[in-house]
Amino acid sequence: MDIKEVLQFADELVCVQTGKHLDDIQDTVIKGVWQGHTYEEIAAQCNRSESHVRDVGYKLWQILSEQLNEDINKRNFRSVLSRLQITRSPIIIQNNKHQNNTHNFNCYSYNSNKNTKNNDNEETSSHYLTLSPKITHFYGRETELQTLSHWLINQNNRLISVLGLPGIGKTTLVKHFIDLNLQQFDVVIWKSIKLSHSLDNILTEILTFTKSNNTENNKLTQLLNLLNQKRCLIILDDIQEIFIPGQLAGKYKPEYKDYKTFFAKITEIEHQSSLILISQEQCQEMICIDEELYPVKCLELQGLDNTDILKTQKLKDEENWLNLIKLYEGNPAYLQRIAILIRNIFQCRVSEFLSDGLLLTEDMKYQLNELFNRLSTVEQQITLELSKYNQPVSREHLRESLSLSSMDLINGLQSLNRRYLVTPIEGEKTLFNLSPVFREYVKIDS
Ligand SMILES: Nc1ncnc2c1ncn2[C@@H]1O[C@H](COP(=O)(O)OP(=O)(O)O)[C@@H](O)[C@H]1O
Ligand SMILES: [Mg+2]
Repeated sequence: MDIKEVLQFADELVCVQTGKHLDDIQDTVIKGVWQGHTYEEIAAQCNRSESHVRDVGYKLWQILSEQLNEDINKRNFRSVLSRLQITRSPIIIQNNKHQNNTHNFNCYSYNSNKNTKNNDNEETSSHYLTLSPKITHFYGRETELQTLSHWLINQNNRLISVLGLPGIGKTTLVKHFIDLNLQQFDVVIWKSIKLSHSLDNILTEILTFTKSNNTENNKLTQLLNLLNQKRCLIILDDIQEIFIPGQLAGKYKPEYKDYKTFFAKITEIEHQSSLILISQEQCQEMICIDEELYPVKCLELQGLDNTDILKTQKLKDEENWLNLIKLYEGNPAYLQRIAILIRNIFQCRVSEFLSDGLLLTEDMKYQLNELFNRLSTVEQQITLELSKYNQPVSREHLRESLSLSSMDLINGLQSLNRRYLVTPIEGEKTLFNLSPVFREYVKIDS
């Protein structure tokens, strides 16, 4: 468990009990205690008195103890949470299928779990959403939600990929879809490849969670049986983690080749369940060759195009919000960071900020650097060339300026397209457009 997940998890538990998210001091206390700091050190970090911090800590441990039904204090906080992680104890919400009380599904309440566990013999659903993000604000994406609903609920597609740039809102969209449609599935399981890379571990966890008693030894066969017997929705987030960085997009690391077979089996074999893959990079299995014939679909997320996303950010000059959104390609993660910058440095004045053109915050640069490092050498060369121009560039131009073979250039462009960094623009001649934010990053970094 890393600190981000610890905070997410604690936030969720605190929210269930108090109806409020963690405030800055609670956040600092959790971080500090997780990292083994004393209350005195934490107090110095957040400019508060030690007694105040101690008090905040005390109340936090009380809430967490109650929610987890464990005696939690400063000394054992890390070990208790680690233990939960090691055993990957799912927080199970067993809801009565016939009650449509979806508003509660996002809150992982241990108490409610205990209260309802053996309530009656009615059919129950099992939802394993530990560590999936809690969605508090969600804007737009009506079409995408409808599309997912059609593909998953009406058409029963077996493999769905949700793809797009980092921060564009893939995880948020899928989690929100689940919040709205949880009751449609008998079993919902959320796994992040960032936490557990090995397919074997993931299969073991799923089979343990669902208590699949099966005489069959092969885990994949066991899982396929489960997918056939129950209507399951399995979400695997951050799939790009199983692809090789520094090479063309979507190439499996040798140790994760078994995922390829797994995805193929999920698609080929008859069952009543679905798998959603969330990824920044597209691989061959995510491309639907024949929409009609194969139960495979691919949702490529574009940026948000309405101003709702900025409404909670307390910015001024509403008439310029759409320009700001366009400048940052409607990427909610970029917009959140930029909104903070505008509040802190530009006194909330969007017009004043826009007069400075496209700016990148340090953490945006860090994230873009990670993305750049995932590119193959050929792709890096192409993006460097594309970044010299503020308009789309033709393939001929790239071929003349770069000493690349025609095949390398075409494969490089295709790979960049599979990462959503380069878009071909139709016309008399196809032109290639580099994502403006990425272009800015490559320009300042080169
Ligand atoms: N539709 C949306 N409405 C409101 N906030 C959103 C929306 N989509 C994404 N966000 C916010 O943007 C950030 C990045 O979203 P996330 O889903 O983590 O992106 P990705 O999974 O594509 O990297 C998150 O903080 C999330 O809260
Ligand atoms: Mg994500």
